[in-house]
Amino acid sequence: CGIIGFTGSIPVQDILLNGLERLEYRGYDSAGIAFFKDNRPHISVRKTAGKVKDLRAICDDDNASCCGIGHTRWATHGGVTNANAHPHKVGKTTLIHNGIIENYHELVESYQLQKDLKSETDTEVACALINKLYQGDPIAVLRQVSSLLKGSFAFCIMFADQPGKIYALRNVSPMVATLTDKEGAFIASDLTAFIDYSKRYFIVPEYHILTLTPDSISMEDLKGNPVEAEYQEVNWDITAAQKEGYPHYMIKEIHEQPQALVRTIEPRINPDNLPDFSADGIPDSFFENCSDITVVACGTALYAGMAGKNMIQNVLGIPVSVAIASEFRYERPVINENSMVIVTSQSGETIDTLEALRLARQYTHKTLAIVNVKGSSIARESDQVLYTHAGPEIAVASTKAYSVQVASFYLLAAKIGLVQGKMTKKEAQNFLATLKEMPGRIETVLSHEKRIQDLTDRFTNVPNAFYIGRGLDYRVAMEAALKLKEISYIHAEAYAAGELKHGTISLIDDGVPVIALATQHKVYSKVISNIRETKARGAYVILISEDKKITDPTICDVHFSIPKVDDIFSVFESIVICQLIGYYTSVNKGINPDQPRNLAKSVTVE
Ligand code: G6P
Repeated sequence: CGIIGFTGSIPVQDILLNGLERLEYRGYDSAGIAFFKDNRPHISVRKTAGKVKDLRAICDDDNASCCGIGHTRWATHGGVTNANAHPHKVGKTTLIHNGIIENYHELVESYQLQKDLKSETDTEVACALINKLYQGDPIAVLRQVSSLLKGSFAFCIMFADQPGKIYALRNVSPMVATLTDKEGAFIASDLTAFIDYSKRYFIVPEYHILTLTPDSISMEDLKGNPVEAEYQEVNWDITAAQKEGYPHYMIKEIHEQPQALVRTIEPRINPDNLPDFSADGIPDSFFENCSDITVVACGTALYAGMAGKNMIQNVLGIPVSVAIASEFRYERPVINENSMVIVTSQSGETIDTLEALRLARQYTHKTLAIVNVKGSSIARESDQVLYTHAGPEIAVASTKAYSVQVASFYLLAAKIGLVQGKMTKKEAQNFLATLKEMPGRIETVLSHEKRIQDLTDRFTNVPNAFYIGRGLDYRVAMEAALKLKEISYIHAEAYAAGELKHGTISLIDDGVPVIALATQHKVYSKVISNIRETKARGAYVILISEDKKITDPTICDVHFSIPKVDDIFSVFESIVICQLIGYYTSVNKGINPDQPRNLAKSVTVE
């Protein structure tokens, strides 16, 4: 969910609505705002199921308020209804919340809150609880409830008898805040909400209480000790978070991949063409004695890890396992102090990944985060961080974050290889020289965008699609299938091409699209045989390979050729073709790829 709050010297309504539009990628089931009516001790709420534009339509009053809070929701407890939308208001208390209150049921019973509740949400229970315990001292009540609430939360709260003030409290779910000279005090679930006003911000620390007034932000810990905000500044500005002429963020971000890769790769390669993490502050000793690697992540980051695993195992011969963070957390970790755990996350805030990191740190201090968002929780808690510098990724379906995560695994492979003597200097130099070519090669793929777009007409009405490949191609297929599923709602599966015949081939019928990746020289002829097996059963085959031309019509219906490259580097080009297939299929079907149903960009619930 997305949160924004502002109190200051200018009217709040547009700040909230514009901020919520920026935050919509975090959730877009429902939206709402609350504000002090005419800056008097009275709080008005406007909220609705639907998107921010629906909220805008009902915010038609002449609103001069300069203090308010806003929320865009991704439903967890309770369906998508007007009543379940935030803000929630009970008595003097009005609040918005990110996270899940797990013990809401017990709280309702113990504090007899039932009569105060109008919705089905855990959030309203927290609101009713705060209201019940509130006796005019906001800090005291927040201190009290922080120990009563179980689960994850980031709250922005207004009390009717404290006009002009916003209070905030968080544990797991992130929030950032800033005070500007001109406008006033802002708080939000992430910086994009107020980047129009400030590039300076600070991360609200866990279990601290914030008080925002029009000209101050004060912060204290739960014991009442004042705490100074640690401000930082981002190096991107508002244009990075705008569409800049593209119809959707997703296509803009697909096109940003060459520059994003340059920003990830170049600072880590020294003038001798060797891997260099000194600017990241990661000493070479970190990579010594590393017996095995476990990658922990969710979603697209998990699939980047799959590609990383395949490449590292094949190039270095080090065992790599990839774990789904939400599974890893509850299993017995088979790692020790020599195991390296690479935690991969675009946002750096995915709660399952964060908790997996915390668990891993009980076993090893060789934890390394591959993270995009500077200063995020995962970045702060891991032993070492490799920032991917991709700039803000707004579209729910991750694209540039995947490419830079994969590139980070390549940089790490060169470093580990060199430090552990598994690669010679010359080998590392050649490896990195090839990696440096990837941005340019992606530009070439992007120049064939129109052809890929035309092809997706075929997909508009299909219920199923299959992505097949072997080795690294199979790992790319996993991410490719996810792209199609999440934004076009077509059921898509990735299969190791050789495994199809053991069951799944029974699903291949006339016209079923099979996107076949055949870029791995070692298994090329095997994959071609597997493709023929699908073609013989009526599949509509789209082949991605290094062949200059395919003349045999019994192999495929459409062919995309990528220039010859070493097996382990084809991932960068083939994934871009697949991202474009996903994007244009979604657009053809009339779906907004930036806001696919039921999904959110940053998942800070378990
Ligand atoms: C959500 C997003 C995915 C993303 C995943 C992990 O499910 O919709 O696109 O891959 O979270 O996010 P992270 O920020 O940890 O990479």
